[in-house]
Amino acid sequence: MKSASLFAPFQLGGQELANRVVMAPMTRTRTSPGDVPNELMAKYYGQRASAGLIISEATDVAPHSKGYLWTPGIYNDEQVRGWKLVTDSVHRNGGKIFQQIWHVGRMSHTSLMPDGQQPWGVTDEQAVGSDVFAHGSDGRLTFVRASKPRQIGTEEMPALLDDFERAFRNAGEAGFDGIELHAANGYLFEQFMNSTLNTRTDHYGGQNFENRTRFLLEVVDLAAGIFGAGRIGIRLSPFGHYNSIPADPHGEDTFFYLCRELDRRGVGYIHLLYQLLPSGNMEQVTRFEETNLPDAFVKKVREEFRGGIIWCGSFSRESAEQALATGMVDMIAFGRPFVGNPDLVARFKNNWPLVEADRSAYYTRNGEIGFTDFPNFNPHSAEVD
Ligand SMILES: Cc1cc2nc3c(=O)[nH]c(=O)nc-3n(C[C@H](O)[C@H](O)[C@H](O)COP(=O)(O)O)c2cc1C
Repeated sequence: MKSASLFAPFQLGGQELANRVVMAPMTRTRTSPGDVPNELMAKYYGQRASAGLIISEATDVAPHSKGYLWTPGIYNDEQVRGWKLVTDSVHRNGGKIFQQIWHVGRMSHTSLMPDGQQPWGVTDEQAVGSDVFAHGSDGRLTFVRASKPRQIGTEEMPALLDDFERAFRNAGEAGFDGIELHAANGYLFEQFMNSTLNTRTDHYGGQNFENRTRFLLEVVDLAAGIFGAGRIGIRLSPFGHYNSIPADPHGEDTFFYLCRELDRRGVGYIHLLYQLLPSGNMEQVTRFEETNLPDAFVKKVREEFRGGIIWCGSFSRESAEQALATGMVDMIAFGRPFVGNPDLVARFKNNWPLVEADRSAYYTRNGEIGFTDFPNFNPHSAEVD
């Protein structure tokens, strides 16, 4: 199979990406009140526009999809205006940006939900053992146990789908080049797909993978109706157990059925979390024993799905190039390296050193600090020995 360099262009949904270095979605909590994106975020994304593709931080489809404080939304006009600042900034700097859309499902807390209601779950089973960032009982901000959810009623599904459709229209209006659905890491789409968790008896549940993937595929179709299927990506974390996702004896069958359905629709890409993520914080992959997706599995993904494939998780320039050389993957996404290196592509290209950003800056409200204050590498001021 033909392999390409990290710096070769890639065709995605009728648009050319300048290279195969993708900026992974990263929640950075710098929104303005009302979950509105702002000039500071526009600056941050604009600084990173030399990535072939930027995937935005996870964005709420509706107030009831929220699971972390200060994540942005895409459900009202003010948010659309805020995101327009972001997409304009990226486009002015020659980049492309997809919006990552999520619904956290049961991974929320009553203090984050509208009117203090229970989080919305595929069933009413609580994510025992998993925390979300919210208000503790003393009102202070802290990690608290995800609240007990209530099962989304079958009769509520059409309105939920309408929420997604509104979000996609808004994303189009805000100038995004496409959409990535966050169907990984134990949020609502994965809650529906997991056969152990999804014990529903309606046509969205049970021991039938057509039913368990129905919600995701209905949402894919809505997004495709607005952006075209080639500009839709799906993020997935097969074998992952993050956010209390239980082991799924039908996981692989469901996953490959989904690959075939996405292929049939001409979906732009599948974004795989290449490193298995057992638990813990979503970015702390390297703290665990590193286990990658099995070779036979990634080979089969390639056979079943003809669109683009992205892998993500602890890649360096070298391991990314090795991955591309296998021919199993088309683009590599980098998360943490983009925090401290806005010019990551130029640094990779020129073998310039990388800055490692301090984790304490990831989710703060400190404005520019740890967010937009990382400079591009200046080869003229670098020491030469
Ligand atoms: C600060 C931070 C925030 C993150 N937020 C998200 C998010 O909003 N959506 C998502 O799918 N993944 C999120 N992730 C996971 C990253 O997209 C990526 O999968 C992970 O960091 C592993 O890639 P890396 O080793 O290149 O950092 C986040 C990671 C970090 C470091």
